[in-house]
Amino acid sequence: MNMLTGTVHSKYNAEMFLSRKIISGHGFFDPLIEALHAVIPSGIDKTPGNTNFMLDAGCGEGSIISRLLKKSLQEINYPVQGVGIDISKEGIRLAARDYENCIWLVGDITDMPFMPNQYDVILNILSPSNYKEFKRILKDDGILIKVLPGENYLAEIREMLFADTEKAAYSNKDTLRLFNENVSSMTNQNISYTIRIDNGIIPHVVRMTPLTWKVKPEDIKKVNIKQLRNVSVEFTILVGKK
Ligand SMILES: C[S@@+](CC[C@H](N)C(=O)[O-])C[C@H]1O[C@@H](n2cnc3c(N)ncnc32)[C@H](O)[C@@H]1O
Repeated sequence: MNMLTGTVHSKYNAEMFLSRKIISGHGFFDPLIEALHAVIPSGIDKTPGNTNFMLDAGCGEGSIISRLLKKSLQEINYPVQGVGIDISKEGIRLAARDYENCIWLVGDITDMPFMPNQYDVILNILSPSNYKEFKRILKDDGILIKVLPGENYLAEIREMLFADTEKAAYSNKDTLRLFNENVSSMTNQNISYTIRIDNGIIPHVVRMTPLTWKVKPEDIKKVNIKQLRNVSVEFTILVGKK
């Protein structure tokens, strides 16, 4: 359902979301999904008969929340209604096409079409945040789970594209500080792993990241696909309450 009241131009396009979906299907996010799966129950109200509500704010093509919902419904016995919201129509179109287990909305996280105190869990994965809105729609005992890239996230690609420039290094300190200023922080966990990917998948890894937005097409060729067998993935998972 499209809940936007005006036209929005998003830099995220269908090609990028397709690449994200493909790498997600090849296990790129699997350890992250495992880690999230361990954290989510701390926000769940286990009262018998209660349905929990979980939002993915900036859900993109939807594979992460959809996989979390499938797993939670299969392996843990509590009902969760998932909702994915993203400002990109292309992302939501792919999500709605492929995953039936969630409500999919085109909308802006800075002004969400929800009543106050509605969500038990809000996921905000590699996407912008709006803490005022998150706190408005989160229940008092609900949790906000924010995932940010760690310093080694896609380090090999960064190195090939931006060697000797300041972009070769990445710090998530400012995002971390904003989180701590806005919510009451509960836990802060780092996960890091290396993904070994086939040649066919590497172009999708390059295509799926905003890292390459400002890189000229001829410079993208600097990413030597043959050398890029292993890609470092690192995430920081922050959990907080309002
Ligand atoms: C890097 S992608 C991450 C998508 C997804 N969470 C994932 O990890 O695959 C960032 C997402 O944030 C969305 N986004 C950016 N600004 C937004 C806003 N104001 N409201 C809703 N979504 C937004 C983009 O459309 C994009 O899908």
